[in-house]
Parts: sequence; structure tokens; C-alpha cells
Amino acid sequence: MFETNGFSVIAVTDAVLPLRRRRPAPRIVDVSSHAGSLVLVGDPGGPFAGLLPSAACSPSKATLNALTVNDVNELRKDGILVNAVAPGYVVTDSNNHTGF
Ligand SMILES: NC(=O)c1ccc[n+]([C@@H]2O[C@H](COP(=O)([O-])OP(=O)(O)OC[C@H]3O[C@@H](n4cnc5c(N)ncnc54)[C@H](OP(=O)(O)O)[C@@H]3O)[C@@H](O)[C@H]2O)c1
Repeated sequence: MFETNGFSVIAVTDAVLPLRRRRPAPRIVDVSSHAGSLVLVGDPGGPFAGLLPSAACSPSKATLNALTVNDVNELRKDGILVNAVAPGYVVTDSNNHTGF
């Protein structure tokens, strides 16, 4: 998960940057998760208490969020907008279609 949410994001962002720079309104969107929020996950009475799918999910998405914030600050001067999105708990293969 750290490979996917950390090093791979760095590699893909670096790879697409030359293409982004050629676009009129360049944007990069990282696919994160509520699980990457230290505030939400750290709240023992919050909605994510005890619900996380694996020990690596939350720390690796927190890493991704840190990378997103870094890219926001780094690429702002070049006019490149960087965001993270959290899709919510949706039906996909990754949760064996238990989402909603
Ligand atoms: N599902 C949720 O409830 C949920 C909640 C929060 C965040 N997210 C985030 O949403 C994103 C998508 O998750 P998902 O639930 O849709 O997962 P998923 O059902 O497992 O789908 C993952 C997708 O990534 C592709 N993929 C995997 N490894 C790849 C690689 N090395 N190179 C290229 N493509 C690769 C897969 O392609 P193939 O189909 O060809 O294998 C698949 O299309 C993830 O970042 C996940 O953390 C999901």
C-alpha cells in the first residue's frame, strides 16, 4: 500500500507533469480516502473507529495526503491545481463489493 499510495504517486505525478504543463488549466487529482485523515481516524468516537480495512490503509493514505499538500505548495507557482478526493465507501473489488 505504501508503494501504491506513496512512491507510485510520486512517479506518476513526475511522469504527467510535462503533459500537465502544456494544458491551459492544468490539474492533478490524487485519489485519497477519509482513512488518510489523522483527525477522523484519530477520533475514538468518530465514524472510522474500528472500521479500517487494514493497518496499512490509513498510514499510506495519510502519506498520500502529505504528498498532495506538498504538490499543492510546490506547483501553485506554476498555476497547476492539485487536489485530493475521497470517494467514500463505494462498491468496488477492493472491498469485495461491501460498500454502498
Ligand atoms: N472502494 C472504496 O470504498 C474506496 C474508499 C476510499 C478510497 N478508495 C480509493 O479509490 C481508489 C480506487 O479504489 P477501488 O476501490 O476502485 O479499487 P479496485 O476496485 O481494487 O480498483 C483498482 C483499480 O486500479 C487498477 N490498478 C491496480 N493496480 C494497478 C497498476 N499497477 N497499474 C495500473 N492500474 C492498476 C485496477 O486495474 P484492473 O481492474 O485492471 O486490475 C483497478 O481498475 C483507491 O485509491 C482507493 O484507495 C476507495
